[in-house]
Amino acid sequence: MADVKRRDFLGMTLGGVAGIGAIAALVAMKKTWDPLPSVVSAGFTTVDVNGMQEGEIRDTQWRGKPVYIMKKKSGDSISPDRDFKLGDSHYSIGIKICTHLGCIPNWKTNEELFHCPCHGGQFTGDGVNVAGTPPPRPFDIPPFIIKGDTTLVLGESGIEYEAMVKASSKA
Ligand code: FES
Repeated sequence: MADVKRRDFLGMTLGGVAGIGAIAALVAMKKTWDPLPSVVSAGFTTVDVNGMQEGEIRDTQWRGKPVYIMKKKSGDSISPDRDFKLGDSHYSIGIKICTHLGCIPNWKTNEELFHCPCHGGQFTGDGVNVAGTPPPRPFDIPPFIIKGDTTLVLGESGIEYEAMVKASSKA
């Protein structure tokens, strides 16, 4: 009889441990399936341009798309439809997806041009397609809002972005 009780006890203990293990596994699986908090926050990307040098390009992502931000050099021409002011400097921004067939162009510092590896498309640092190459239009610009002197939040539409859109519709 004592032997039966010991077996029952062992069985219940093992069952309990297995149950706890199963619950822990389900919790871990749920965490894996849930999107990360940054994804849940509806596709906003915060970019700090602090410390960027003139002519420097920084890459980031917004909603899975490659986005670049370039700090313009003093003396560069400023295009109201492609450039914006942040703090004391001007910047260009664009979604780095070729407007021909969607490849991802690379920045060539020595030429100061984006080169598309697919069919030879080229874009200026402002994201404007170079005439005579396949892309039919400039890079798209992601909506953004400026916060403070060095921060951009992609995914929100601020006055600088609106001004660029307005200028490009007139161009
Ligand atoms: S996809 Fe870029 S040139 Fe064709």
